[in-house]
Amino acid sequence: MASARKVLIINGPNLNTLGSREPAIYGKETLADIEALCASHAKKLGLKTEFYQSNHEGELVDCIQKAAKSIHGLILNAGAYTHTSVAIMDALLTLSIPVIEVHLSNIFQRERFRHHSYVSLAARGVICGFGSLSYLLALDAMTKLLKKS
Ligand code: DQA
Repeated sequence: MASARKVLIINGPNLNTLGSREPAIYGKETLADIEALCASHAKKLGLKTEFYQSNHEGELVDCIQKAAKSIHGLILNAGAYTHTSVAIMDALLTLSIPVIEVHLSNIFQRERFRHHSYVSLAARGVICGFGSLSYLLALDAMTKLLKKS
């Protein structure tokens, strides 16, 4: 049997405070809760998952660069850097693996500055607005993308 495909799930700034951060928008689950849900869903799909979170733009760029060498797919919630970071977009554009952008909230229903995403310019697709389910739907989509490749 072929070895399991590895998917890296990266979370950006302030997502480490999920659970207490604006629960009306982001829900009550902590990042650890979401990671556990992802790990269990990924197992059912036959994927291996790794997780990384940082509040620092350069660290996120470093992590994306390293991912290019060892990972088959990347799921990214870049938090506020989604809307500001050319550096993260440039790092993503060097990858040949599929990238799926996720958000807990529906960014298109919120302030105008959240409607633009640099990450989208480098992503195969975007899933937003479903809370923690956004990540699980991204894993479903990633499974299909990796089967095709
Ligand atoms: C977010 C949406 C961003 O606009 C915000 O800055 C975040 C979280 C989301 O998951 O809904 O930090 O990426």
